[in-house]
Amino acid sequence: MELRGLNAIVTGGSRGIGRAVAIALAERGVNVGINFVRREKEASRVLKEVEKRGVRGMMLKADVSDARSVKMMVRQFVERFGRVDILINNAGVFPKNYRTVDITDDEWDWLLGINLRGAFLVTREVLRYMPDGGKIVNISSIAGKMGGVAGPHYAASKAGLIGLTFALASELAGRRIAVNAVAPGPVDTEMIPDEIKERLARITPLGRIATPEEIAHTVIFLLENDYITGEVVDINGGRYMD
Ligand SMILES: NC(=O)c1ccc[n+]([C@@H]2O[C@H](COP(=O)([O-])OP(=O)(O)OC[C@H]3O[C@@H](n4cnc5c(N)ncnc54)[C@H](OP(=O)(O)O)[C@@H]3O)[C@@H](O)[C@H]2O)c1
Repeated sequence: MELRGLNAIVTGGSRGIGRAVAIALAERGVNVGINFVRREKEASRVLKEVEKRGVRGMMLKADVSDARSVKMMVRQFVERFGRVDILINNAGVFPKNYRTVDITDDEWDWLLGINLRGAFLVTREVLRYMPDGGKIVNISSIAGKMGGVAGPHYAASKAGLIGLTFALASELAGRRIAVNAVAPGPVDTEMIPDEIKERLARITPLGRIATPEEIAHTVIFLLENDYITGEVVDINGGRYMD
């Protein structure tokens, strides 16, 4: 699909992977809605980067775990751009505790609320304004397939996103809406504590963690291709060879 002139919402677009995806989209001529929840200054910097590339951008403050907030965000975007051709479900949080016995009910609900329920809520709202042939990419994680260091709630949220991807791909194929996921290994963003980054770089065959731009590159590949749907693309420096 030619991306130029399309309109995209990137959840969690203010930092890290979302920021890199927003900029990569702008480089290909896509107008971008940059969702964030707290870091307004960071989101406004991304907006400037997007506009520098000659497309239109828009800051969208909303908590993806809150249905009302999501509804308002999508309405705001559609009032300006008319439709949503591309949705990137990227907003996510990292746990405070990693061991099952330390995880409270509140931490479970908070994390699943943003990482999994959030993707569902935004998708449900966006689908009202997505034309046939639209594209959705969910940012899952290697944790959704292998468990990993971040604990059962994080792994379950990311495995849930993979299930959501398959179910949506099947449901929406009749509208030619492709739904895919990427499952990155560790990425150099603020999300992961530095000591965990170093540990994970050491166990990665390629010897380092990914850059956000490398994940964005994979997202763009999935958006440009019209015959991939219901797929989860691993991008993890060779971790499965361990
Ligand atoms: N970093 C990794 O190693 C890695 C690996 C695999 C998968 N992932 C996944 O990739 C995605 C992005 O991760 P990242 O590393 O780029 O994280 P990050 O740098 O911590 O950025 C997180 C983004 O999510 C937004 N966000 C958090 N809670 C939100 C909420 N309730 N509503 C709306 N937006 C919210 C943040 O907005 P504010 O700026 O306003 O706080 C920020 O834009 C996440 O889903 C993560 O699980 C990350």
